[in-house]
Amino acid sequence: MTLRKSANAPLTHLLQPLASREEISRPSRRIPAPPRTPLRARGVEGTTADPITPGGERPFVRVASEDELRGDGDRVHVQLLDADGAPRHVSLINHDGEVFALDSLCYHAGGPLAAGDIEDVGGSPCLSCPWHLYKVTLRTGEKLYGSTRLDDDGVTLVPDGVKSVGERQRTHETELREDGWYVRLRLDGVLESDRFANKRVPGISGARVVRVDQPVIAA
Ligand code: FES
Repeated sequence: MTLRKSANAPLTHLLQPLASREEISRPSRRIPAPPRTPLRARGVEGTTADPITPGGERPFVRVASEDELRGDGDRVHVQLLDADGAPRHVSLINHDGEVFALDSLCYHAGGPLAAGDIEDVGGSPCLSCPWHLYKVTLRTGEKLYGSTRLDDDGVTLVPDGVKSVGERQRTHETELREDGWYVRLRLDGVLESDRFANKRVPGISGARVVRVDQPVIAA
């Protein structure tokens, strides 16, 4: 049966008494936030990470199906929630049949590096950051640049090959398993891209949230 709104229906809601001044000025009661769902161990729905063992290596975490990264140029952007709940934006990119993973946001100023075009720079495939066109290698996270030197006349600048300023962008391990692509974060030391690992950039970050398991507590 379809209920129709009648034009003659009594407007009873308009007859309700107005709230008293006291009620209006009373601060609204805070509704307590629901308890945070604790991160749970492997086997729980939505969690596809290897367990973290005390003192052991970080886990591999499933982040994509094989199909999602099958073609050259395919990309998957994920937000990994670490065991302590901290998010990290990581992108997986298929280039020429090889799948690379690196921090999504550019070490320079937090631009959407992982959405950049891929260019060959001195034989290394590099992401070209859309914001300031820095070239960052997919394989090592180094920033490359075209160097110059003074010619023999001491006046003219001439090209001097491609050089690296060193590793700036964090890269991560990838692994294809029977049920899809896994990534394992490499978090040793400190790298410049760490400053932006948790930031948000529209269109690139947080496309998919994947949880890393809680550490397994030794008995
Ligand atoms: Fe990427 Fe500046 S933010 S080059």
